[in-house]
Amino acid sequence: MEDIYILAIESSCDDTSAAVMCNDCVLSNVTASQAVHEQYGGVVPELASRAHELNIVPVVDAALKKAGVQKEQLNAIAFTRGPGLMGSLLVGVSFAKGLAASLGIPMIEVNHLQGHILAHFIKEKGVEHSAPQFPFLCLMVSGGNSQIVKVDSYKDMQIVGQTIDDAAGEAMDKCAKVMGLGYPGGPIIDRLARQGNSDAYKFSKPHIPGFDYSFSGLKTSFLYTLRKLVADDPDYIEKHRADLAASFEATVVDILMDKLYKAIKQLKIKRVALSGGVSANTALREAFHAYAKRYGWEISIPKFGFTTDNAAMIGIVGYYKYLDNDFCTMDKPAFSRTTI
Ligand code: KG4
Repeated sequence: MEDIYILAIESSCDDTSAAVMCNDCVLSNVTASQAVHEQYGGVVPELASRAHELNIVPVVDAALKKAGVQKEQLNAIAFTRGPGLMGSLLVGVSFAKGLAASLGIPMIEVNHLQGHILAHFIKEKGVEHSAPQFPFLCLMVSGGNSQIVKVDSYKDMQIVGQTIDDAAGEAMDKCAKVMGLGYPGGPIIDRLARQGNSDAYKFSKPHIPGFDYSFSGLKTSFLYTLRKLVADDPDYIEKHRADLAASFEATVVDILMDKLYKAIKQLKIKRVALSGGVSANTALREAFHAYAKRYGWEISIPKFGFTTDNAAMIGIVGYYKYLDNDFCTMDKPAFSRTTI
């Protein structure tokens, strides 16, 4: 079979990313992040879409050059159709439509969440690769989502449990914001927590039935604890931030792992994968390894470069859809919310 070249575009939040795939192998994966949001402690949608407008052409150009692929060689364009911020999505979706029309090639719409899950299947030239076997359960944890998904094939996925309010990454970001630590907070909490005592504080955990998650109560519990402590000592956070970060992070990890453990027990699937931006977290990765050893799970953890938002994960979904002739028409609008 001839090689298939796909250009993939991701612009669902605050990363403008383009990748070129040759079949299931990534040739380039170029991402421009947006530092403009740091000063606001979170993504400002209007600023995000403006930055995408500036970044999209140079990022796509860089991805093609790095891959050594001419745009005339492309067989299709895959793009994130949703979920995400509408203004951000519109930039990538419109660019994909315009380029596909001008090149006369088909378009493939990709669900961002499927991208996170199938990131495990991205191959790299000269790098040994192992992907989870179907069926497997995927703990998908990012800034916008926290879900347990049963993955039966490249295209058959069912949500087993999901957050009823905030996502795990959002909770990490909020915790960092409350401590005045900058954005995105997850990696900062991760670094600080390495030097802290995870048993120093106890924060409340949710009691939600089934396999669903909730993180809003934990956020409130953290905020109220801090308010009390700072009232007695205004420098409290500065003096104890490593212990606060470690204890908060440990609570998030416990909540995530507890429901995953229950889902695995009930569904009797011991193959487990981790996906999404929060999967970069050190404590969560350690917990995955510890549970695997203890309960005999077969685990898959993606490479760091494929955990946070990137276009290669959109490209891998695009490749499998291409094989199924699953193309989309020009009238498909972006969507901000969805399930898988
Ligand atoms: O998947 P992603 O890049 O974007 C979404 O689709 O949401 O995830 C971003 C989230 C942010 O909340 C960020 O703080 C979190 O992932 N994150 C981390 C770490 N690296 C990124 N959270 C905890 N520890 C990390 N090392």
